[in-house]
Amino acid sequence: MADEREIVLRIENLTKSFGDNVVIDGLDLEVRAGEVIVVIGPSGCGKSTLLRCINGLEEIQGGRILLDDQEVDGRSKNIAQIRQKLGMVFQSYDLFPHKTIIENVTLSPIVVQKRPKEEAIAEGEALLERVGLLDKRDDYPRQLSGGQKQRVTIARALAMQPEIMLLDEITAALDPEMVHEVLDVILDLAREGKTMIIVTHEMSFARAVADRVIFLEGGHIVEEGIPELFFTNPKTERAREFLHTFEFTAVRSHTVEE
Ligand SMILES: Nc1ncnc2c1ncn2[C@@H]1O[C@H](COP(=O)(O)OP(=O)(O)O)[C@@H](O)[C@H]1O
Ligand SMILES: [Mg+2]
Repeated sequence: MADEREIVLRIENLTKSFGDNVVIDGLDLEVRAGEVIVVIGPSGCGKSTLLRCINGLEEIQGGRILLDDQEVDGRSKNIAQIRQKLGMVFQSYDLFPHKTIIENVTLSPIVVQKRPKEEAIAEGEALLERVGLLDKRDDYPRQLSGGQKQRVTIARALAMQPEIMLLDEITAALDPEMVHEVLDVILDLAREGKTMIIVTHEMSFARAVADRVIFLEGGHIVEEGIPELFFTNPKTERAREFLHTFEFTAVRSHTVEE
């Protein structure tokens, strides 16, 4: 049956290069409302660059990116307004050290979106509750663990009520015991129907959270599919090799830890 959900993001023939290095080479992608796309691929294949292009942070050399039929262009006047539709979370959590957790979460809604303070605070508290950190409301970032800080960063992104969340290896800098608490928050968001594009190396999480997996290499989508098929029976040799290397490394690092 045809997917009736509205297309919120449309990437057409995107080309992005840094000098002679063509990183993204004619990439097409459509994302529908409520879809969770997981992007995987070897280091340096352009995953971060793709997310940065979607956010209008990179000048592109060809093609176009449409968010709700509006063109994302870093040089256009309305880029700030378009960017508010995207909630980006990176590996590093850049919280303001001299502001409390609730202040960190409510700053942009109050200052940028000019939302009434009481409303922003009430919503900020609801978001902190949702990521399990309401009791840290008046603490400062230095008093929190890495996993807690990353959950605050997620709450802060959600506070802007973005249409799409872009997550770039958000657990890569965390100690292993903190990875789960962060990924659980994302699994909840997925169940609630949040549209997300997620770059991750956590394969079991990818399998659990994705509606669609995209395997990127050499500037192209080499393979895409539903996780049940992609992870158990990849169609391309390259995806098979990648997954195999991955399992091997995962098994090895596990063995080394022991
Ligand atoms: N600002 C930049 N200037 C020059 N080259 C860059 C820049 N950012 C990324 N690259 C190059 O683009 C390629 C893709 O990088 P990246 O998107 O970070 O890959 P990934 O996130 O998949 O590991 C790499 O070859 C990288 O060296
Ligand atoms: Mg990256």
